[in-house]
Amino acid sequence: MMTAGTQLVRLQKIIASSGISSRRKAEDFIRQGLVTVNGETVMTLGTKVDPLHDHIKVNGRHLKTKLPDMFVMLNKPVGYLSTLHDPDGRPTIKHLMPKPSLRLFPVGRLDWDSEGLLLLTNNGDIAQACLHPTHHVQKTYLVKVKGVLEESHLQQLRRGVALEDGQTAPAKVKKAGKLQANSWIEITIHEGRKHQIKRMFDHIGHPVIRLKRIQFGPLNLGKLLPGKTRYLTDNEANDLRHLLATSGTPSRPTPKKVRPRPKSPRATPSTQRTPRRLSTKIQ
Ligand code: URA
Repeated sequence: MMTAGTQLVRLQKIIASSGISSRRKAEDFIRQGLVTVNGETVMTLGTKVDPLHDHIKVNGRHLKTKLPDMFVMLNKPVGYLSTLHDPDGRPTIKHLMPKPSLRLFPVGRLDWDSEGLLLLTNNGDIAQACLHPTHHVQKTYLVKVKGVLEESHLQQLRRGVALEDGQTAPAKVKKAGKLQANSWIEITIHEGRKHQIKRMFDHIGHPVIRLKRIQFGPLNLGKLLPGKTRYLTDNEANDLRHLLATSGTPSRPTPKKVRPRPKSPRATPSTQRTPRRLSTKIQ
């Protein structure tokens, strides 16, 4: 059954996310003809149904369904707001989402004139945990700045600089390229203060010309084109859950492991698994 705002999900995924079985076992149920949708037996793997409206039974028992966790990576281009609605009608990331019916919201923000990796999810607990300071989620940015940076500038950024809202935490900083009059820098921080990267570079007298996020926790932007989205693989989603489950203390989402599909490629290596602490506000 389709209604406005419907989101179709693979049957085995819905059965697995209801908690009664693993994805593989759910596939067995389907193959064995034990699953009905709106009274009809479905034996084709990959059949998509509407978890909110379709009536699913497994072995004669009604399945209490919910939307499974969804994770989408967007390569946000410059010129889009990281919100789903703008009262002034400016372009927002909603215009770039795969389907307007997906109930996804952004995990944090990138400035209007920043670009790169923005994660979206329908799981509020995971979104909150990603932004919570105790989880220490590292974000890596490629930054083009005005002028040529000396090693002493990089050291300053590494140690932390005094901004009006306090000293920044130590950062990983390295040169990523040199132009005639400007520099490319790669910087990794785990805080998320408003306009933090721009303010850090302003502080050392080298304003940001271009800012692109290339890594968010274990997730890497890779070759995703500007303006394009893709779903996270099960491995990526599990890496993210693992990071959140093993770092920090509060807001810990249940590390519900989704069994990776056998041939699912591991698109991104996990780069961050060590639990650590910090105390700075993340937005
Ligand atoms: N820091 C900034 O200054 N801007 C962003 O968009 C992200 C980090």
